[in-house]
Amino acid sequence: MSAPLRVGLIGLGTVGQAVLRVLARNGDEIARRCGRRVVVTHAAMRDPHRVRDCDLAGITVGTDPHAVAGADVDAVVELIGGISPARELILAALGRGRAVVTANKALLAEHGNQISQAARAAGAHLAYEAAVGGGIPIIKVLREGLAANSIDSLAGIINGTSNYILTQMAARGQSFADALADAQKLGYAEADPTFDVEGVDAAHKLAILASIAFGVPLNFAAVAREGIGQVTPQDIQLAQELGYCIKPLGLAKRSAEGIQMWVHPTLVPAAHPLARTDGALNAIRVHGDAVGQIVCAGRGAGGEATASAVIADLVDVARMQGAAPRHLVPDLGFQPGALRELPVVPAGNVASAYYLRLRVADEPGVLRAITSILAELDISIEAILQKEPREHEDATLAIITSEIADARARGALERMQALPFVRPGASRLRVEHFE
Ligand code: NDP
Ligand code: HSE
Repeated sequence: MSAPLRVGLIGLGTVGQAVLRVLARNGDEIARRCGRRVVVTHAAMRDPHRVRDCDLAGITVGTDPHAVAGADVDAVVELIGGISPARELILAALGRGRAVVTANKALLAEHGNQISQAARAAGAHLAYEAAVGGGIPIIKVLREGLAANSIDSLAGIINGTSNYILTQMAARGQSFADALADAQKLGYAEADPTFDVEGVDAAHKLAILASIAFGVPLNFAAVAREGIGQVTPQDIQLAQELGYCIKPLGLAKRSAEGIQMWVHPTLVPAAHPLARTDGALNAIRVHGDAVGQIVCAGRGAGGEATASAVIADLVDVARMQGAAPRHLVPDLGFQPGALRELPVVPAGNVASAYYLRLRVADEPGVLRAITSILAELDISIEAILQKEPREHEDATLAIITSEIADARARGALERMQALPFVRPGASRLRVEHFE
């Protein structure tokens, strides 16, 4: 057997500890797969007094991450998250020719073009399977398994925390705040959970997926996003009555007009596989011209699921160490000089069916006034649900529209809200039929 792959591990939190546990448990089998052992020799954390749920025996452990990035190791694994000092640590390790494995989607989405360039300049291996979809090997699927295809769209549930929250609200009637607290306890949430609930984390991941699917540079700023905070228990109930589930969806499409990328709480038909992707599970549907549609699903967050992806990257590193850089899979799936900028479809032009929910006074003529606005704007109604009020309460109207540009959906809702009998607090969510 060849010499072990020596690994420096920066970060001993949810994922870092799980990496050590899985390596301890499956080390022999992993060695049989890559012909050498994968051994963590150095590690860093912030708080030396915190008890860790993993065996640190034989590892040089400290609180200086730069010491690990500069240690005599073959690969550096960055699992601290955030932009700084993660970026400096990764650039330092790459600069020294070390392979780098990271799960840091925020850093990659925002600075991945620079980091990829640095890896190339150093001829170093950069791997990030854990950055998207937790344990689902979607990066490998897109960069390698689907390399024959022209990919025109991908859509999926790519944030476990927000999917967990919506599932708990729908299935158990749990409050948003309690479900989020549970997701944090279970190790699903980001250090700053607003990244999860406001769609930032999913937007980071979508930018990465779109780049490697379409062969475009990373462009996080082009992802339109809305969080799940706007979804009420009433929306969940109405969606169910209309035959849908509300899911935190990310979607990227390439067409003649350019690329569209958005993250939005979305009504998905109840019979679709994505509607049955519950809890912290993720699922990603990819459409390629040759393969047709494929769906990859699995645990999208949590320590050991994510460690599975981190260690898969380490296996690749162990197998490929010493290979000429031209033999490595390109970081973004396409040869560096072959990435092409494409125009971004303006957010207002992006078309979708919409769910509009309004609270209205219980008066005659209300429904006619609202449907007249839709008729004047040439917007067809696919479904409508009117909930009769209880005594002294307002009525609720839920409408599913035909496919219309985002700007038209906003315009229609604004006109409805200006009507004297429409109460404040309407809702506008996308509806995706995956046709
Ligand atoms: P945690 O917050 O649980 O762990 C972060 C670790 O980094 C902690 O051990 C912390 O030390 C250490 N750390 C932070 N800053 C420093 C520093 N300056 N120097 C040394 N150590 C430092 O995060 P996770 O394990 O959940 O996430 C790690 C990365 O993986 C993030 O990029 C995240 O986005 C990504 N990820 C997480 C997933 C998950 O399900 N949790 C799934 C997919 C990706 P200490 O423990 O002492 O505080
Ligand atoms: N916070 C992320 C999520 C972790 O909930 O999906 C996995 O990337």
